[in-house]
Amino acid sequence: MCGIVGYFGKRPAQDFLLEGLKRLEYRGYDSAGVAVLQNKIANRKNKKDEILIRTVKSVGKVSELEKKLNGKIEGVIGIAHTRWATHGKPSEKNAHPHTDCGGRVAVVHNGIIENYRELKDVLEKRGHRFRSETDTEVIAHLLEVAMEKLPFEEAFVKTLKQLKGAYGIVAISAKDPGVMLAARLSSPLVLGIGSGEMFIASDVSAMMGDVKRVVYLDDGEITVIGNDGYVVKTFSHRKREKEELALERDKTVAEHRGYPHFMLKEIFEQPKSFADALRGRLLPDDGMARLGGLRTVAKRLRSIDRIIIVSCGTSYHSALTGEYMLEEYAGIPTEVEMASEFRYRKPLLDKKTAVIAISQSGETADTLAAIREAKEKGALTIGIVNVVGSTIARATDVGVYCHAGPEISVASTKAFTSQLAILSLLTLYLGRQRGLSLVMGQRIVRELARIPKHMERVLAQAKDIRKLAKKYAKQEHYLYLGRKYNFPSALEGALKIKEIAYVPAQGYPTGEMKHGPIALIDPSVVSVMVMPRDSVYEKNMSGMEEILARGGKVLAIATDGDAAIVRKATDVIFIPKTLEMLSPLLAVLPLQLFAYYVAVERGYDIDKPRNLAKSVTVE
Ligand code: M6R
Repeated sequence: MCGIVGYFGKRPAQDFLLEGLKRLEYRGYDSAGVAVLQNKIANRKNKKDEILIRTVKSVGKVSELEKKLNGKIEGVIGIAHTRWATHGKPSEKNAHPHTDCGGRVAVVHNGIIENYRELKDVLEKRGHRFRSETDTEVIAHLLEVAMEKLPFEEAFVKTLKQLKGAYGIVAISAKDPGVMLAARLSSPLVLGIGSGEMFIASDVSAMMGDVKRVVYLDDGEITVIGNDGYVVKTFSHRKREKEELALERDKTVAEHRGYPHFMLKEIFEQPKSFADALRGRLLPDDGMARLGGLRTVAKRLRSIDRIIIVSCGTSYHSALTGEYMLEEYAGIPTEVEMASEFRYRKPLLDKKTAVIAISQSGETADTLAAIREAKEKGALTIGIVNVVGSTIARATDVGVYCHAGPEISVASTKAFTSQLAILSLLTLYLGRQRGLSLVMGQRIVRELARIPKHMERVLAQAKDIRKLAKKYAKQEHYLYLGRKYNFPSALEGALKIKEIAYVPAQGYPTGEMKHGPIALIDPSVVSVMVMPRDSVYEKNMSGMEEILARGGKVLAIATDGDAAIVRKATDVIFIPKTLEMLSPLLAVLPLQLFAYYVAVERGYDIDKPRNLAKSVTVE
């Protein structure tokens, strides 16, 4: 999704602007641009020095923009943007920053201005010339109008009050070059505090390595950045005291570290990221979990009689697995909802409902809206979030962090297994309060602690999985099948191959095949079946027989030593034996690797799949 960076300091602004945009490349984009306040330039006409805004844009990668800039843009204050098209196709004229008629104001914007059509009509009638098809450009022209009578900051607030929708906006003006202004409403912005210099970005990872302290803006806040630092205010000019948070200085997380892609690196990180999610949280003797983030609501959690989990994409799939865990072992009625649907469904919630938001980024607009709706209706809101300090982490009443470390690849992998770690811990925590036996609790704890070693064994088969990917690389359609705990694994496997290898794939519960999809089966169709030795093993076996009997091929994910499957399936990948509820943690690894290697065989840009963004901060 679009990325924003801004710099106000003493060094050449373009250095950080380009570096920051590169660090945001993983979010997905189609074009990029910068605008820098140029130091005094002699105006030949009126013989006076004046300050200008110099804007450079390009379609494609940040490296294209860098080539175009060719190190030539001077100035110590600037803004930059990577755009992911919403209004208007990817093109140079639609790329941000956008300027007003006179080029005296420049803005970058993430989000959507819903009433831009009406605003544009009025502005055009007043004689404003629009150069792009974007919703963003109205902001620059509205500022131009307001600045006819008002100073920059007041004009900025007046402009914001005319906008409907969601935004993170950063603006500079040649008329008032001493400040940079930014505002947030439903689209993240974070300020970075350096020594004698200030940074701003839509994602904290843009500033990693440059700043030690950050301030997250909240909805309805603006910040005024100047030579003396920054101030945060409400739209009604009331000053807000903000907490400055320490930022870990770790540039290396954004490097491949010897892997060809972030996705592969992150797949291989899972034994560690899973162990990190468990660290300090397992109580082996009590068969219990310690979840410090829930301490303040421990009493209220005892009276909860229903759980709803809201999330999107991969996080939705981990939520579905969590539903099986929570109902079977904690005995709490649990429903899972796609956040994008939940927010429009007028859900019935009360104080005894806990609404859990699962999100890697903590910035997904639909999940955030769902959690806000739940809060308004009096439900207890809980976040299972990876990015510390993100909007969802702050918007929920309480939460448990995943501690997976930064996930850069657009295709989510390690976040999924870390989310499952937290859901297992939550199941233990709630289950042991509601009748889960000590013996079973201890068993779950023991098996959880073994998972990192099991994961290593699965990952050690990467070469064999690569061979299978080669064999099936030209396959044009897949079915991914599983039952019970591994139905969500099948959905996740199908999502992975769709998003990075662009192969149509359908995830389905094996038991539903006979109600329609089995009509698809013929020798050209490959069914990837997740069928470990669990309580539905026999049912899955029957499903496999039905597929094979119709000439279909089966690539099975099975438990170590399952000779029956070796005899029947076309190909088999083995995973170690574990508890049924934990088997998705192992089954998903070969599915991630298979999708990855198929995408490699097909020659795609794996970390930046087409049309996709890492965090979806618009509806
Ligand atoms: O950051 P979130 O977990 O809230 O993101 C949810 C989805 O957008 C995300 O999982 C998406 O589906 C990924 N591309 C999946 O690989």
